[in-house]
Amino acid sequence: MTTLREMRPAQLDSLEQATQSTLDSLRAKKLSLDLSRGKPGPEQLDLSAALDAPLDSYIAADGTDTRNYGALRGIPEARALGGELLGVAAEQVFAFGSSSLFLMHQVTATALRQGLWGNGRRWRNAEQVRMLTPVPGYDRHFTICESLGIDMVNVPMLDSGPDMAQAAALAAEDSAVKGIWCVPKYANPTGCIYTDETVTAMANLPKQAAADDFVIFWDNAYAAHDFEFPGVPLANLYDLALAAGTEEHLAMFASTSKMTYASAGLSFCAGSDALLTALEKALSVMCIGPDKVSQLRHARFLSGRIEAHMAQHAALLKPKFALVEQVLHNALNELDIASWTKPKGGYFVSLTTPPGTARGIVQLAAAAGLKLTPAGAAFPYGLDPNDDHIRIAPSFAPLDELGAAMQVLAQCVKLASIQHRRAGN
Ligand SMILES: Cc1ncc(COP(=O)(O)O)c(C=O)c1O
Repeated sequence: MTTLREMRPAQLDSLEQATQSTLDSLRAKKLSLDLSRGKPGPEQLDLSAALDAPLDSYIAADGTDTRNYGALRGIPEARALGGELLGVAAEQVFAFGSSSLFLMHQVTATALRQGLWGNGRRWRNAEQVRMLTPVPGYDRHFTICESLGIDMVNVPMLDSGPDMAQAAALAAEDSAVKGIWCVPKYANPTGCIYTDETVTAMANLPKQAAADDFVIFWDNAYAAHDFEFPGVPLANLYDLALAAGTEEHLAMFASTSKMTYASAGLSFCAGSDALLTALEKALSVMCIGPDKVSQLRHARFLSGRIEAHMAQHAALLKPKFALVEQVLHNALNELDIASWTKPKGGYFVSLTTPPGTARGIVQLAAAAGLKLTPAGAAFPYGLDPNDDHIRIAPSFAPLDELGAAMQVLAQCVKLASIQHRRAGN
């Protein structure tokens, strides 16, 4: 087959007609498909059914009665679980309720209003506050910034992680740059894993920053979400930061949302004593203690068997990612009109289409009964400067629906690319 670029006008005509008629027949089926959000599928949730078994005792390792108030930092065994996910000691972990996003918001708001170091350093002392946002990235990080009036400065995401040379230059030249968002393993949405060089450069970034209150937001949401085991290792940011003397500038996050129940799991925040003290003070205003019964259940369910449990998730997710790859490859590879990531874990695939087509493709897909993450969502303010990025979230749909959805998407990409080509591109 010839690539789209090599096709003569007559070939483009017939390919457009064929693609349009395939899409018309798919539309006639009145499909109702959804690849818009990275939710665990029902059969993944069923893997954690044992969480609901009655507990034989509610007493935690340190004697805490988990049914009662208190222990804001969490019970020891839950903190140890967070430490295992984040590669730090249990004492450095805050174990909380079901949403790490909530903790991220709390840490960001606390950095802004009260400061994280108990010494008067706080972001709101500055006239303007900016954060570095590697793009494409996670839309809800951007929403936290927007909700708190924090401006965002884009940094390109490479296969190795954020472009660290650019991040360092931006942080060094502007004292209003106060932090950076990171999803270091199976990044949302590209699926990349930060290389050792990137993690080392990240650990040194606070030293290069002009701001003395710079914070690395290390959202390791997919720390254990490999498809093959043993999983791909990630360099230990905390150890590297200790070596660089920057550990007071880290806020690390993880959760069990995509390990057990997304609505009833545990969240973790780890960092220096100063960070935990600041977070504890902020949270104590609104909460006397987290759901420690859930913490105990999780610790008993997951301790010593994280990998075995995540292998069960992998068995369900891997075929879905393989199907995404297969449909995209079969439909688009020879035409050479798009590229996409092939992650070995996590929840997302990034699809790059010809410049200026992503928004139109998402609309075409919607008209054919397929809901996708809005184009531009992986960029601050929803603005994808090239309009060429689409996030695919294959986890929730059953395999047959995923296959149908991917066929719709592939035809939409094809049609938009042909029209883009015919417009003289
Ligand atoms: C990178 C990233 N961080 C955080 C979350 C949400 O985590 P939680 O459920 O712990 O709030 C998600 C969910 O998609 C995510 O992709």
